[in-house]
Amino acid sequence: MEKQEFRSRQWFGRTGKDGFIYRAWMKNQGIPAHAFDGRPVIGICNTWSELTPCNAHFRDLAEAVKRGVYEAGGFPVEFPVMSLGETLMKPTAMLYRNLVSMDVEESIRANPVDGVVLLCGCDKTTPALVMGACSVDLPTLVVSGGPMLTGNYQGRAIGTTDLWRLSEASRAGLLPQDQFESIEASMCRSAGHCAVMGTASSMACMVEALGLSLPQNAAIPAADARRKVLAHLSGMRIVGMVREDLKLSRILTRPAFENAMMANAAIGGSTNFAIHLLAIAGRVGVELALDDFNHVTAGIPLLANLQPSGQFFMEDLYYAGGLPAVLKELAAFLHNDCMTVNGRTIGENCAASECYNRAVVAPIEQPFNPVAGIVVLKGNLCADGAVIKPSAASPALLQHTGPAMVFEDIEDFKARIDDPDLDVTAASVLVLKNVGPRGYPGMPEVGNLAIPAKLLAQGVTDMVRISDGRMSGTAFGTVVLHVAPEAAVGGALGLVQTGDVITLDVPNRTLHVALSDAELAQRRAQGPRAAALASRGYVRLFQQHVQQAHLGADFDFLRGGSGSAVVRDSH
Ligand code: FES
Ligand code: MG
Repeated sequence: MEKQEFRSRQWFGRTGKDGFIYRAWMKNQGIPAHAFDGRPVIGICNTWSELTPCNAHFRDLAEAVKRGVYEAGGFPVEFPVMSLGETLMKPTAMLYRNLVSMDVEESIRANPVDGVVLLCGCDKTTPALVMGACSVDLPTLVVSGGPMLTGNYQGRAIGTTDLWRLSEASRAGLLPQDQFESIEASMCRSAGHCAVMGTASSMACMVEALGLSLPQNAAIPAADARRKVLAHLSGMRIVGMVREDLKLSRILTRPAFENAMMANAAIGGSTNFAIHLLAIAGRVGVELALDDFNHVTAGIPLLANLQPSGQFFMEDLYYAGGLPAVLKELAAFLHNDCMTVNGRTIGENCAASECYNRAVVAPIEQPFNPVAGIVVLKGNLCADGAVIKPSAASPALLQHTGPAMVFEDIEDFKARIDDPDLDVTAASVLVLKNVGPRGYPGMPEVGNLAIPAKLLAQGVTDMVRISDGRMSGTAFGTVVLHVAPEAAVGGALGLVQTGDVITLDVPNRTLHVALSDAELAQRRAQGPRAAALASRGYVRLFQQHVQQAHLGADFDFLRGGSGSAVVRDSH
């Protein structure tokens, strides 16, 4: 058989001055000459950072990938990209997702790599890396960092979802401050990302359902030795993918995206999934619209009993059989013939999987909740759509009409929400404007608005809340998110005033404000507030190019890809 010529030969296979330059400086790391003999060069794209605690164990994980690459006869090269931690970054990590995708895209294309392993963990690191890799389209495999072990406080299992409950209890005076603080040390007790089915777990399940990772990638805890085994096997497999030229675009077909949507419904995955999946589809040229969620996931029930829609944690999902146990239950719905990174189809990968705990993964005939997934709403309040996650909402509020209590921005909300004179009842609809992609900017996770203190004191735990922002995948409530167009670009949300009557009707997939077109037009003519444009820098670029939520909030100029070819040399 003829020896395969890989992309990296355009660097390391050269003679003369150029080849000298490409190899000589690499050799300062102690790399022997045979590493440059034409074997597959595997980039390991690492989002390790001590400022991204969920990814802080990634140097170890990268070592496991490298062992696998070496074992399969490849040459691994690890490189950093900007990391995004949900907990520390202001004003929101989402502001930087597209920036990281550009970092990833350019880093891969500019360097002598034949295939890439993406190390992803905390929420935005997964979509950012996958988006960037898609625009280059080399053989690519994802290794997720894995969830934390379930938190434990005085013998009680706790995770990120409890944070929202505990915080409300603390605000209502039901939880002493010293106890609230001592819980901090109990929740995040191992390496890994949030242990519930928040956005990070939803993204890890997304890559597995898309076929971009080896089976079981989503749920193995970060602290479990089998996470490193998966990383090692992934390192071995990416070398094979390069030899087979199994590129991202061969895996990321429209049916694969539909599989991921169905999986996200069955696991009670994050609302953020919609934005990130649409952005990824845009990079590979797969036609996917927000509206597709309603029909693609129709009939998919909730099968995973995980917080915030249910009771358990990611660790429990792994012990119950992991995502393959869920996908097997969905076999009658899925496109089982979709190719995955291991060279087998998703159906083949899941056929032999078993469920070891029916309290965690339900059989399709007896789901935990017939209602699942992300429902897309339309109406005069959200012409381009809005989303809600019914499984995390209160059933009694899924059809609700009430008067709006409007907050013009997050500062207005914070200033007034605990005012004892705030004119709200449990039937009010809280509306928060100007937290969208361009308005905030960056579309932060503030949509699960805190309940007004005076209603908390009355025992109210849920209300209809509407915004153009997002919410944490770990959060819950009857929360309408991602309203498009957002207030700051002239959407009807920006025209709503306190007292307007809003009707949410999830079964009929509508969201309306009782205002005639003429009234809306009149208010629009008065010129609602527009987003202030940053004077310079990345934020200005972001505001000028970010698309609305229903298009995935990617930059307009980043849609599609530019391939992996680079024709010009550096010297
Ligand atoms: Fe990183 Fe939740 S904060 S996954
Ligand atoms: Mg989050």
